[in-house]
Amino acid sequence: MKTLERNIRIKQVAESRIHEVDMNNIPFGRVFSDHMLIAHYRDGQWQAPEIRPYGKLELEPSISSLNYGQSIFEGMKAHRGPQGEALLFRPEANWKRLNRSAARMCMPEVPASIFLDGLQELIRLDQAWIPAPEQGALYIRPLYFATDEFIGVKASETYTFVIFTCPVGPYYTRPVRLLVTKDYIRAAIGGTGSAKTCGNYAASLLPDKLAKARGYDNVLWLDAREHRFIEECGTMNVFFVIDGTVITPPLSGTILPGITRDSLIRLLKDHDYKIEVRPISIYEVEEAYEAGYLQEAFGAGTAATVTHIEAIGFGGRDLVFPPVDQRPVSQWLGQQLEALKSGTAKDPYGWRVKVE
Ligand code: COI
Repeated sequence: MKTLERNIRIKQVAESRIHEVDMNNIPFGRVFSDHMLIAHYRDGQWQAPEIRPYGKLELEPSISSLNYGQSIFEGMKAHRGPQGEALLFRPEANWKRLNRSAARMCMPEVPASIFLDGLQELIRLDQAWIPAPEQGALYIRPLYFATDEFIGVKASETYTFVIFTCPVGPYYTRPVRLLVTKDYIRAAIGGTGSAKTCGNYAASLLPDKLAKARGYDNVLWLDAREHRFIEECGTMNVFFVIDGTVITPPLSGTILPGITRDSLIRLLKDHDYKIEVRPISIYEVEEAYEAGYLQEAFGAGTAATVTHIEAIGFGGRDLVFPPVDQRPVSQWLGQQLEALKSGTAKDPYGWRVKVE
């Protein structure tokens, strides 16, 4: 075990498992890299983090995150740059969002010295696991959960923060079909919709399963009050191009403040696209579809990147969007984003962070 200046103890694997992985054929989220970072919070303070071989955690069934869902996570990626370097994309934005989720879920802040410095060390150590750009990227999962062994409902006094990583190909391997439902909601004002908390994903499983049984990939969520305004898709934020204008729902408190969403809005604004961040109802989308003005629909997320929406099921029929090669805005955005992340485009925003 060695200790670095950053006060992170490192225990390396005796032998890497990387030779077991076919990087040309990586299933999303099933193969995990050699190491993970782990840090514990107790007695009102964070203990020194440790990097150790990826593996099992020993936990009691009474811990509060398992019983009451006091748990949050993040999703980010490392890309391989043109010189083989490891590149992170906006890691500080993920760190800040984690701490906003933590505040909502009554959890202590995770300091930069653990999240950002720990991330640098972990990715430096496992950088061989970053696939080449044409193969995919290294998905990074910071996970933060309550560990008090106590059955009363109260905020935990102990926590564990982990970062583990996995080489991934695309989350969606083809354009997606989304189903609008009025039978379920994802989030209401005052709830936890804007926090990246595990329960939001658990609550989406049944509606998604029902949508899948009808031939769709996911639900396209509407607002909880009127069942009218489009929110997000659960795995990604959504954008529409109507008559040359890109429209995406605002951060109402009920949708995830996506970092990919934010990056795309910035790119669109800076390249003089017409972009409106405003409520958009499913009826507006339907009317634009009827009138022939609905040009593109796509999702945006870390795992999903820019994913084309093939069709939206609504009102007993499918609104089917133009073929992918007739979608100049989302094609351009997808290319710009990938080039920014993988270091083949200039980065005027300072979004790329090299792993030293
Ligand atoms: C991400 O895009 O990183 C997410 O956390 C979404 C999840 C569906 C993989």
